[in-house]
Amino acid sequence: MLILGIESSCDETAASVVENCTVLRSDVIASQAMEHRLYGGVVPELASRRHCENILTTVQKALADAHVTIEELDGIAVTYTPGLIGALLVGVNFAKGLAFSAGKPLIPVHHIMGHIAANYIAHPELKPPYLCLVVSGGHTMLVEVQTHTGFRILGTTRDDAAGECFDKCARVLGYPYPGGVQIDRAAQSGDAGKYPLPRPNVSGSPLDMSFSGLKTAVINMVHHAKQKHEEIDAPSMAACLQTTVADILTEKTALAAEQTGYKTIAIAGGVSANSGLRAAMERMCAERGYALYVPPLSLCGDNAAMIACQGSYNFLAGMTADESLNAYASGTAIGEMKA
Ligand code: KG4
Ligand code: ZN
Repeated sequence: MLILGIESSCDETAASVVENCTVLRSDVIASQAMEHRLYGGVVPELASRRHCENILTTVQKALADAHVTIEELDGIAVTYTPGLIGALLVGVNFAKGLAFSAGKPLIPVHHIMGHIAANYIAHPELKPPYLCLVVSGGHTMLVEVQTHTGFRILGTTRDDAAGECFDKCARVLGYPYPGGVQIDRAAQSGDAGKYPLPRPNVSGSPLDMSFSGLKTAVINMVHHAKQKHEEIDAPSMAACLQTTVADILTEKTALAAEQTGYKTIAIAGGVSANSGLRAAMERMCAERGYALYVPPLSLCGDNAAMIACQGSYNFLAGMTADESLNAYASGTAIGEMKA
């Protein structure tokens, strides 16, 4: 089975072909990150326009790299939610046109389900059920992965995502977009005990998280220091932030594992590239004898391999769409189909 995946939910135009769900035949990513860096974050209209310009050549390269023709494909999978609406519409409309003209099934994929699937490519031995911590720029959630297409959310952030917290703090510390990876780099030379930061809990919902207070605390400390003409030690602030976020996420994951009894844990999404989080999760899992699955750095951020992989499982479960498929910026729970 050969599935083409297309991803355009944010600032990466990506296409990939996978064989039999998990075998990567090609993985092409045209990133716009350096262009958005000029503006300190993603400019939605610019993102849509770049997707428009790059999508055809990206898909052509994915097919060529895989040595696969459109006729040989079994289906065309595309991210249809969540994300920037103008950006999503480019991928969805392109996939619809291609599927319609080639007479191939059209397979809508939820972006967060795609992130979860990235681990199947790197670790084909990983099989549901297990517990997955999904941490990206827009989402932070603890998910019980019941089957390849069935999920239960155990906990989520009540406000900002962990990635949003990293990006906004990086900006105020003077690091360029995308900020998470800059925090990670700077933290290597910082003192993680220098600045005390809050670790908020959501009362009555022990598996839920909140990162907006932490973000505000960092921003306020930086602003107060500026007002008093004091220097903030940016690498140490980065180290404190990274340790705090990693500890919160790891504690919540450990609690979810205790409550559900799962001993197999995975992490996924852009923030799963964070070295502090990976180390904290490794320590926690080693101490408790849990098996930990971590995607390679190449599959943590947005890519189409994960969309093609999840698309393959959706296809096997009959989760296809007709030409009326639309894109949705938000509002669709993972596992739920809205087409
Ligand atoms: O999954 P992703 O590529 O896109 C979304 O679906 O949002 O996640 C992007 C997020 C950004 O907030 C980015 O700063 C963060 O992942 N990120 C990191 C690291 N690499 C990417 N955050 C912390 N440490 C990293 N090494
Ligand atoms: Zn993503």
